[in-house]
Amino acid sequence: MKKQMGKQSTVTAVIGVDWGDSGKGRLIDDLAQNADIIARYSGGSNTGHTIKNSKGKFALHIMPSGIFNANAICVIGRGVALDLESLIEDEFEQLKKAGVSWKNLVIEPECTLTMPWHKLRDGLREKSREDKIGTTGRGVGPTYADRTERVGLRLKDLISKKFPQLLKTELEYQNKTYGFKLNYQEVLKKFLNFAKIIKPYIGNTIDIIHMGIYNKKNILFEGAQGWLLDIDGGTYPFVTSSNPGIVGIWRSFDLHPKYINKIIGITKSYTTRVGSGPMPTKIEGPQRNIIIEKGQEIGTTSGRTRDPGWLDLVLLKYAVDVNQVNHLAITKLDILSGFEKVQLCTGYKKNGKDTWYTSGDAQELEDVTAIYKTMPGWKEDISKVRDFKDLPKNAQNYIKEIENYTGVKVSFIGVGPKREEVIYA
Ligand code: IMP
Repeated sequence: MKKQMGKQSTVTAVIGVDWGDSGKGRLIDDLAQNADIIARYSGGSNTGHTIKNSKGKFALHIMPSGIFNANAICVIGRGVALDLESLIEDEFEQLKKAGVSWKNLVIEPECTLTMPWHKLRDGLREKSREDKIGTTGRGVGPTYADRTERVGLRLKDLISKKFPQLLKTELEYQNKTYGFKLNYQEVLKKFLNFAKIIKPYIGNTIDIIHMGIYNKKNILFEGAQGWLLDIDGGTYPFVTSSNPGIVGIWRSFDLHPKYINKIIGITKSYTTRVGSGPMPTKIEGPQRNIIIEKGQEIGTTSGRTRDPGWLDLVLLKYAVDVNQVNHLAITKLDILSGFEKVQLCTGYKKNGKDTWYTSGDAQELEDVTAIYKTMPGWKEDISKVRDFKDLPKNAQNYIKEIENYTGVKVSFIGVGPKREEVIYA
């Protein structure tokens, strides 16, 4: 897969087919080496992409992970909730320290800004909820809510002469409605400074993508979160407020999915969930701790422990079908090494009857019982394996079972945390 990408013009999307945290960073970093344009299309600073490469270790939230390819254009599309505090004060600083340039960054002026009141409102709303969603508290939901309500401030507003007045009107409204004590002068000063820093990076990203397709460039769309957190098709209301799947690309860049020829669905070899919401395959007991510890299942953004579960093929197949995934990437297969038995969820039962996933509904998943295919595990250290046929037979069978159930080939297998610890099949 990696090799093919350099030879021909390709439009590739890497999307999570899970509840996020699939370990996209490394695959994207790898594929980005051969891309001309790398584009981020959804989510905000709730996203956490951990990247380890020759330049160091980075925790990126808004910046596309492709920024490490100095020859590529890195694009932030309209669907991203643009948190300039995170981008400028944290991420630019991380990159600056490591000597990584972001001169090829282009941000869409239509992006909606995450403002200080969005972060405050995220906290307020979460506190008042009886059934907590467990949001990351980054103000992402309220940013998208304001866009939908048509009161969002956009990046183009920030650099316009009207910004001080627009800010004043909105800030006063927020203070009055929610009882916040945001200081206009302080917020204005901070954002005018952001405007100065960010202005050179603003450009028409829809043109960049469309011209890129016309000129047969290699384009890589970098997903954030995972399809099961999609505002519509995910496990509502325990979802994020954007479209992490293929539809998010369409919305950000006015690009019909027919132009995307490689759709790579990425998930771990097991599943995890952070925040609230149902998870039919949740693992309890000693195996839970082993996975959390070995897999370092602590959120990049929130620092919270993620709940581990067996891989749920029912949900995976649904995500694969909806997004027309044509390659699968399975990460962290090494974490399952050492288990006597491994399990794959192949169906659900409710009140003794077979049941399925109802798109967009968390309720149904609350009371299902997972049906498992239990398979013998493997004990070997697989981190040195680079060829599928050199994997232990039981690990091969585990991967083949995923392929058989979903009907999609697994083209990338992560066998360790280091950059080279990967099998390209
Ligand atoms: P929000 O996106 O911060 O509003 O959070 C809504 C739900 O999505 C919560 O359950 C979060 O834990 C989850 N979530 C948001 N972003 C991510 C992510 O990047 N990885 C995993 N879960 C996420």
